[in-house]
Amino acid sequence: MRMAEPGGIAEGDLEAAGLRLSVTGEVATVSLVRPERRNAMTGRTWEALAHVGQTLSESVRIVVVKGEGSSFSSGIDLNMFRPGGVEGETSLMDRIARGSADDAELDAVIAGYQEGFRWLRRPDIVTVAAVRGHAIGAGFQLALSCDLRVLADDAQLCMKEPALGLVPDLTGTKPLVDLVGPNRAMELCLTARTVSAAEARELRLAELVVEGAELDAAVDDLVAALLAVPREAASATKELLRGAPGRTLEEQAAAERRAQAGRLTAMAAQAARG
Ligand code: ACO
Repeated sequence: MRMAEPGGIAEGDLEAAGLRLSVTGEVATVSLVRPERRNAMTGRTWEALAHVGQTLSESVRIVVVKGEGSSFSSGIDLNMFRPGGVEGETSLMDRIARGSADDAELDAVIAGYQEGFRWLRRPDIVTVAAVRGHAIGAGFQLALSCDLRVLADDAQLCMKEPALGLVPDLTGTKPLVDLVGPNRAMELCLTARTVSAAEARELRLAELVVEGAELDAAVDDLVAALLAVPREAASATKELLRGAPGRTLEEQAAAERRAQAGRLTAMAAQAARG
């Protein structure tokens, strides 16, 4: 197992941001490692997460996202909203209060945070969230950013932002609506209620729910099954499926033809090479 140091961010810096990255062969595991704070995340966590995405080795095909300890993540570190913010980080709230962060700057800061979540949809990788315990707010959005979710039976999902006067802004609203539909998404967000693992499965928020003790083994089995499919075919198929909701049947059929032509050409070239 290799403890990675993605370009520019040393292992110690990742840990300071509440993250750990380990790479074993084609599988990377990104762990949230502040269990004493239930893996609460800060701006620095999301910037480090973006950096992990930008510098991920090309050999990686699967990324597992998990949390250390009893909770996947309790969401944003609530100290970010308190005067003084989080130790070692510029307090955005203080800057807004002082009038030193304008709309364009806020937009850029949030866009930077969102980069920590966006890369998890990339077609060249498959991402799996392994969720035990709480996935609240930003934690729920992180799980939603992954392609697949495996939940322990004690998992509790909650889009808490509206209850705190905020909106979910870490790219979670799109997958939520895509998965459960706009009405259910509205009900979940506007009540900020907690969804159990059993309900999450019913709502298609989880591909799999297993006993807590089985979570790691279930994720390992899923990863092994994903690795058994050829990389290029998996990548082309993911791209096809991800694009499907935004296309008409005609457009999707055309996209299938294009993707298949690409696959067949590549396979023919490979066969010719022997
Ligand atoms: N930010 C900062 N500190 C946190 C957070 C958080 N989001 N979540 C937990 N902690 C801290 C607690 O303050 C506590 O610190 P202490 O030991 O110094 O008292 C420690 O982590 C353990 O937390 P407990 O509440 O004791 O753990 P418990 O397992 O009983 O409860 C739970 C876990 C349900 C996650 C609870 O901590 C909680 O509700 N946290 C806040 C969740 C929240 O509102 N997140 C923001 C969502 S909105 C968004 O993410 C944008």
